[in-house]
Amino acid sequence: MKRTRIIDIFNTTELVGTKVCVKGWVRTRRGNKQVQFIALNDGSTIKNIQIVVDTQKIDADQLKDITTGSCLHVEGTLVESQGQGQNVEIQCEEIEIYGLCPNDYPMQKKGQTFEYMRKHAHMRLRTNTFGAVFRIRHHMAMAIHTYFHEHGFFYFHTPLITASDCEGAGNMFQVTTKNLYDLKKDDNGKIIYDDDFFGQQTSLTVSGQLEGELGATALGAIYTFGPTFRAENSNTPRHLAEFWMVEPEVAFLGQEGLMDLEEDFIKYCVKWALDHCKDDLEFLNKMIDNTLIDRLEGVLKETFVRLPYTKGIEILQDAIKKGVKFEFPCNWGDDLASEHERYLVEEHFKKPVIMTDYPSKIKAFYMKQNEATPSGGSIGYQHTEAPEPTMQGTDVLFPQIGEIIGGSVREENYDKLLSEIEKRDIPMKDMWWYLDTRKYGTCPHAGFGLGFERLILFVTGMANIRDVIPFPRTPNNADF
Ligand code: 4AD
Ligand code: MG
Repeated sequence: MKRTRIIDIFNTTELVGTKVCVKGWVRTRRGNKQVQFIALNDGSTIKNIQIVVDTQKIDADQLKDITTGSCLHVEGTLVESQGQGQNVEIQCEEIEIYGLCPNDYPMQKKGQTFEYMRKHAHMRLRTNTFGAVFRIRHHMAMAIHTYFHEHGFFYFHTPLITASDCEGAGNMFQVTTKNLYDLKKDDNGKIIYDDDFFGQQTSLTVSGQLEGELGATALGAIYTFGPTFRAENSNTPRHLAEFWMVEPEVAFLGQEGLMDLEEDFIKYCVKWALDHCKDDLEFLNKMIDNTLIDRLEGVLKETFVRLPYTKGIEILQDAIKKGVKFEFPCNWGDDLASEHERYLVEEHFKKPVIMTDYPSKIKAFYMKQNEATPSGGSIGYQHTEAPEPTMQGTDVLFPQIGEIIGGSVREENYDKLLSEIEKRDIPMKDMWWYLDTRKYGTCPHAGFGLGFERLILFVTGMANIRDVIPFPRTPNNADF
């Protein structure tokens, strides 16, 4: 008999009264000598189908071995349910056991901590919470592709193995086929890569942006969506060593347009979740965070604040004067810590903030420089006077999450970009092709990177980034 997915059992009214076949894993079994109730889940939905087993019809010996986690094939008639909690149930006529589940099944007990479940990441997928999270993760990926496709962006594939460091932060994982204990070195002890696989030093990419710019300045608007890798030793609930990034890049776009795109895109994704993931969101709202759905709906109604960095520092210093305590300093020129970002978003504005016009010295080399003033500073967005040069960065800061998007207008002027590359000692062998976009038919353009898992954190209400990617990679952890 052909199998029906449990989600279709619930969504197709014509099936009531007919014989159906379902397959899935047992969530619970309870009952008495006459009748047994099995809650079966096949992953297609958070909802379980109730299987009602008359022990006169099904061999009791067969039933007693069926425990939480067992995998079954069930055939029976779909009927309107007598009991509470479900509309329909299956009157069982036949059970085939695919796999029993011994008592040491790691997901047997309810209410285990997320930390415990991370140690059993291969099995945690079968729990309600992780089922909900990973169905939502799928729907968010669909939202991203649909948004960009409908807005005329081309999905553009950038390499994962690269010889250049886009962010210039130096935390890249190296790629080599050499025996690490027997490396060829020159007289100064520097490694020679000429006999390595690529004939030069290569790494896993931290961002597809630089190649994305090549795409945008040819196709007009592109987006990437793929894994990126960062060897930052940050053991926080917001950092992964391997995470997925979405990077749109658009020709002929300035700072205002970029912020419009960031805001519109995030709202589209959040609305998509509310429209497509109702059951899973309701489950997470009940079990994980009872403000989740309100927060998602709230974001759709808010207009994001657009705040120049210099103004942000003023607000933070004002707060300090009024007695607010921060662990880290926040003087003009400092990179904001997450406590500062969260103060601005959660305490001061109480809505998402797009921060703009950062000091050049704390941002990447490729960002567009604001116009210099006679005092040595620069005039950026909203004409806030800054004491030192600033750049047209546009990061989106979110409640609970902090930075969810990092973006900027790109410096399109060849000489200015070259001088920034030289100032930062970035090797020309890595940058000549990138500079060519500015040498040949340069154009204004802008783009951003959204951390996919940070979006999933926001949309699911989960607290730790390790719990929104199936198999997290973090310092000292690469199991599964
Ligand atoms: O701000 P970042 O470093 O920006 C870039 O990489 C740009 N090249 C993007 C662009 O303009 N095309 O990273 C972008 C986003 C961050 O805002 C954050 O959401 C996420 O990527 N991110 C991480 N997510 C998880 N784990 C990490 N270690 C992350 N580092 C950055
Ligand atoms: Mg950033």
